[in-house]
Amino acid sequence: MPDDRPAAATHRLRIEPAGWELSAPAGLTLLQAARAAGIHLPRSCQNGSCRACRCRLLAGRVAYRVEWPGLSPEERASGEVLPCVAEPRSDVTLDVPGAHRVGGPGQEAWPD
Ligand code: FES
Repeated sequence: MPDDRPAAATHRLRIEPAGWELSAPAGLTLLQAARAAGIHLPRSCQNGSCRACRCRLLAGRVAYRVEWPGLSPEERASGEVLPCVAEPRSDVTLDVPGAHRVGGPGQEAWPD
């Protein structure tokens, strides 16, 4: 069930194992916040169904924009998360080995 509690203005998002930290403003998904900071996370559908973005939530709490994100209750309980449809409800740490920076000098452009 979606969490409709008001979100705090901004949380911190930490992406491991790189150790990058960025702001995760209210109203953005974790995927959108990472992108705004120039960090590419693996993804495809961006609507919570394909699981391409699935990664591990090491710390923090999230709320889903969709009622039935593509994770089983067991996966959610074990710390799996879908950043494309998850908004932060606290400071959050994700484990995303496939994350990389994009768009800077000498770096690749955003993949579509
Ligand atoms: S990109 Fe498809 S579930 Fe997140």
